[in-house]
Amino acid sequence: MTVLLSAEEIQARILSLGKEIEADYPAAEEIHLVGVLKGGFVFMADLIRAMSTRVTLDFIAVSSYQQSTRSSGEVRLLKDVETRLEGRHVIIVEDIVDTGLTLTYLQDILRARSPRSLRTACLLSKPSRRVVDVKVEYVGFTIEDRFVVGYGLDYAEKYRNLPHIAVVEA
Ligand code: IMP
Ligand code: MG
Repeated sequence: MTVLLSAEEIQARILSLGKEIEADYPAAEEIHLVGVLKGGFVFMADLIRAMSTRVTLDFIAVSSYQQSTRSSGEVRLLKDVETRLEGRHVIIVEDIVDTGLTLTYLQDILRARSPRSLRTACLLSKPSRRVVDVKVEYVGFTIEDRFVVGYGLDYAEKYRNLPHIAVVEA
């Protein structure tokens, strides 16, 4: 496997992303982050520590990929959030936006809960793979169409614990 983004590069980017996000919201207002399991949990863990104490969080779980590197195009809700989203500033925190199908589904169901605002933060984006035009306000890194693992991202449930992002060679 080849390292695409080192642990240091990722940390530096997340620090500035955390500051950028906070600067976009009125100072006294809470920001509620909704992490997408499982892939988004490592990004979530570092992002919240790059932000101040006005952050609260929750998790949601969906399945899209069936142990392969191709998207099935089908999204299933496995675990819902446990908090009310009505009237809150909500940010979806996801590992990667690929076809955009997962995020479109998530944005639709969370928007229906009447949050005060709804935005999305993704560590990675593969724009060349997009099937639906989905809005992502905060992107850590834009990458080529390569299947990547590490830093939360898996291949058949492996490699989530790598501290960096690597490319899987066929
Ligand atoms: P989308 O619905 O096609 O945008 O896919 C989003 C989901 O597919 C992500 O949340 C990941 O779980 C998974 N995914 C997409 N690309 C990759 C990759 O390169 N490595 C690992 N997982 C990926
Ligand atoms: Mg994911």
